[in-house]
Amino acid sequence: MAALLVLVAALLVASSRFPVSAWRAAANGTAPPPLVIWHGMGDSCCNPLSMGFIKKLVEQKIPGIYVLSLEIGSSITEDMKNSFFMNVNDQVKLVCDVLSKDEKLQKGYNAMGFSQGGQFLRAVAQRCPSPAMFNLITFGGQHQGVYGLPHCPGESSHICDWIRNMLNTGAYRSAVQDHLVQAEYWHDSLNEDLYRNKSIFLADINQERAINQSYKDNLMKLKKFIMVKFLQDSMVDPVDSEWFGFYKVGQAKETYTLKESVLYKEDRLGLKTMDKAGKLQFLTVDGDHLQFSEEWFITNIIPYLK
Ligand SMILES: *[C@@H]1O[C@H](CO)[C@@H](O)[C@H](O)[C@H]1NC(C)=O
Ligand SMILES: *[C@@H]1O[C@H](CO)[C@@H](O)[C@H](O)[C@H]1NC(C)=O
Ligand SMILES: *[C@@H]1O[C@H](CO)[C@@H](O)[C@H](O)[C@H]1NC(C)=O
Repeated sequence: MAALLVLVAALLVASSRFPVSAWRAAANGTAPPPLVIWHGMGDSCCNPLSMGFIKKLVEQKIPGIYVLSLEIGSSITEDMKNSFFMNVNDQVKLVCDVLSKDEKLQKGYNAMGFSQGGQFLRAVAQRCPSPAMFNLITFGGQHQGVYGLPHCPGESSHICDWIRNMLNTGAYRSAVQDHLVQAEYWHDSLNEDLYRNKSIFLADINQERAINQSYKDNLMKLKKFIMVKFLQDSMVDPVDSEWFGFYKVGQAKETYTLKESVLYKEDRLGLKTMDKAGKLQFLTVDGDHLQFSEEWFITNIIPYLK
């Protein structure tokens, strides 16, 4: 009897901390799908003002959800450093490994990538189909790369100057490609051939050299692919890249859209098929890079995570 009372008391205490809806969902076997988050350049898994804030907000709006904010490395400092200097192909491999070993993700998960974390999570979807990714949401992701680095976030302006210099003087040298993250999605529209031949990350996931059928098959498994573009973005050059547009070959002024691209027309990555099936969603925010309100997020993003 005493044991039973203790159990009931424990349940009461637990339920007061654990929302009833979450209990019900868990009991029904309808717990919300887990969420994986990948932060952007110069950020980390757990900054209370960025990813930490988003994680909390999601947990508050979707009781019982499991949120994994990826940390690349074994400390916050390493995580931030790796966002500049750890080979992206290795980062993707590491993340695939983490996801495949996380018991809570084995029935599938939704994913949200912020800035460069957007194209990195797309690479995860294309390269690592298990566990399954359901919805992929990219916020200001650079799906066709960048040709310019106007500024870096936070206090990293000296790193930023150094990186810009490296990009401008030899982004496609193999020593730079192997070690500098931003070079790996540097897309020089004035030297499109060089980009196609030498980019070790972006040209690969965008099927520029050859078509890897499994990339296409895997991406098409997504239920929804949501791309958020920031209309006043001062960090991504060109902003069109957030929806798979880019500068036309041979110049850095006029741009083409996803639908005008060879990638789409030849359906090299399955985006055309996905579009026809209503799987692509294009959202805009009238703000600078990654600047959205809590209200906007709750209204426009939370529904995709339930
Ligand atoms: C759980 O099952 C009950 C009864 O069938 C239902 O009313 C409820 O909406 C279900 N889902 C959740 C998330 O509680
Ligand atoms: C295609 O991608 C898969 C998954 O990353 C990889 O294992 C395979 O080697 C790639 N195939 C080619 C021809 O590059
Ligand atoms: C790119 O590779 C192709 C095929 O190997 C080659 O013909 C071309 O000259 C290369 N271009 C550059 C700029 O590296």
